[in-house]
Amino acid sequence: KPETPQRPETLSFKAVDKNKNDLITVPEGYEATVLYALGDPLSSQISAWQDSSRESGASYTMRSGDCHDGMHFFGVGSNNKWDSNQSARGLLVLNHEYINPNYLHPTGATVVTGKRTVEDEVIKEFNAHGVSVVEVKKDEKTSQVSMVKDSVFNRRITATTEMEFGGPVKGAELVKTRFSSNGNKTRGTHNNCGNGYTPWGTYLTCEENYIGYFARNAADDLKRTAKEIIALNRYGLKQGSGSRYQWETVTGSSQQDLFDRWNASVTADSAEQDYRNGPNTFGWIVEIDPFSTAAPRKRTALGRFAHEDCRVSPAVEGQPLTFYMGDDSRGEYIYKFVSKAPWSNADINGGYAAGDKYLNEGTLYVAKFSDDGKGQWIELSYGKNGLTSNNTVYAFASQADVLVHTRLAGDVVGATKMDRPEWCAVNPKNGEVYVTLTNNSDRGSKYPVDAMNPRQYNDAKDGKTSTGNNNGHIIRFKEANNRHDGTTFTWDIYLFGAQADAASNINLSGLTDANDFSSPDGMWFDNRGVLWIQTDDGQYTDVTNCMMLAALPGQVGDGGAASAQALSNTSGQQTTIKGKNASENSLKRFLVGPKECEITGIAMTPDCKAIFLNVQHPGEDSKPDYNNPASFGSHWPATQTNAANTTSRPRSATVVVTRKDGGMILG
Ligand code: FEO
Ligand code: CA
Ligand code: CA
Ligand code: CA
Repeated sequence: KPETPQRPETLSFKAVDKNKNDLITVPEGYEATVLYALGDPLSSQISAWQDSSRESGASYTMRSGDCHDGMHFFGVGSNNKWDSNQSARGLLVLNHEYINPNYLHPTGATVVTGKRTVEDEVIKEFNAHGVSVVEVKKDEKTSQVSMVKDSVFNRRITATTEMEFGGPVKGAELVKTRFSSNGNKTRGTHNNCGNGYTPWGTYLTCEENYIGYFARNAADDLKRTAKEIIALNRYGLKQGSGSRYQWETVTGSSQQDLFDRWNASVTADSAEQDYRNGPNTFGWIVEIDPFSTAAPRKRTALGRFAHEDCRVSPAVEGQPLTFYMGDDSRGEYIYKFVSKAPWSNADINGGYAAGDKYLNEGTLYVAKFSDDGKGQWIELSYGKNGLTSNNTVYAFASQADVLVHTRLAGDVVGATKMDRPEWCAVNPKNGEVYVTLTNNSDRGSKYPVDAMNPRQYNDAKDGKTSTGNNNGHIIRFKEANNRHDGTTFTWDIYLFGAQADAASNINLSGLTDANDFSSPDGMWFDNRGVLWIQTDDGQYTDVTNCMMLAALPGQVGDGGAASAQALSNTSGQQTTIKGKNASENSLKRFLVGPKECEITGIAMTPDCKAIFLNVQHPGEDSKPDYNNPASFGSHWPATQTNAANTTSRPRSATVVVTRKDGGMILG
């Protein structure tokens, strides 16, 4: 077994300058190579993607989807099973969160009087969502990575792939649909944002903003119970809501049910005859075994909300596994799930059977922080903590009801409303858990400031009055006695985003030109304990494209960049937040992405010689004029090899960064 590489003592590379180039920029001595871009075929039987987006919808079941996001690398051993030490050969498993119809189709989506009229376009949109499994190989000498085009492992999971439910919601009334009258299965996964992976070698994909894919007729409330209306409103599907891509508007199809399912209105006599429960079949953590073609499983015991990310505690023989999760919406909560079964190393490579063992039974908790640097995990189990049938907020009928309506359960127990909890990362060195709080424009207004979310204004440099927490921060916590299955913890704030030239009561972490950033989102610890931080838009894209930073954090209580004494302050002043400045030795910008992109998704080979990341939605903000390709907001990835390109379409893509000398990243 190869030794895990050591964490570097300091960050010695020269920081990448902030820039607005239409390129990926990496430090001197490194190179970035595009590996897998929107439309790229997974088989040599499928034609190469042409720069006109004319490929058929059906072909996307074997092409890269759009908007690459969360990702993991699973080494493949000589027996074709997962081998956590293998770097030369592996499966990259990655999410395709959503789509940009402007570039996915030749001239954008066809909509005629509010209806989608080209069925194949909508099929392409179904198939451009979901997950890719892609085999890659790495040259042991040069560290160059390439895709294995005809691997038997290569496949796509899409918004129509059949899936099974696992856990307490399987077979519940709340998930019965015309497709599955017994509520045991459903179709598809979409809006897959962050991810996770299990100690037994499977991938976890997180269903985030799924609710926007459904439409609900005006006056649908008249056909609903009071309980249903409370739940639909809490999850953001008010009656009269339209859907993001209007998939439900396709008519006259020979496969009409594929389209009808996106209308979540009551249209028949019973739930078994329509899709009133359609939204309840999304918003889950979905387990995918990249080594099996069996149906993926929606793990309902982990709750239903806008799942951003799901990260497991270090696997310790004989102790339960704990999975940390964020609900990315303003004022939402941080959760954890503790497995009932204690971990056994015998379950490595146990596939979905191991998933059934660890992810179907256990306890879901929500975080309640207090201003004094302490916190508690509150159990979300039916019959406890007010989660009962006589609750006045919502009358819970069963554990399935608690899980389908996790947000309402969090409300009942008084969980702490956070500034958009996105990715969670567990430090392999000490088990501490980090959560990005990307930003919250409503902090200080709809949500009062508290010690955990202490900012309500910052960065007035835009020439506008900025309110809310617009640059975000990273909170971290340490479980009591280092037991991830416990119910108390201590916390502090590790880092505040800000631009370097902002006033000191805004640039609370003392960021410099080498490490300033806004809106932390993607975040992951590699096996050495290096923390990688990725950014999504925020209010710094007027100065620089989104980026990725490397960090060498300390521990809770060391002052981080700010302390737990960051007192709640309702007067709008932030001068009470004291902390240590971030140092360029321990926080530095490693990469800047192309125009109008988000940098998200991160994985590495176990030898730390190849790091993978995703460029999501380059060029998204500009409205294209198809007669004038120069109008496209970006021409990346074509610009990565030809910087003068002004004609190509922008495409989301997976990128691998290696060292030119084949050595270890940050080595
Ligand atoms: Fe899909 Fe919360 O980012
Ligand atoms: Ca995200
Ligand atoms: Ca985001
Ligand atoms: Ca700005």
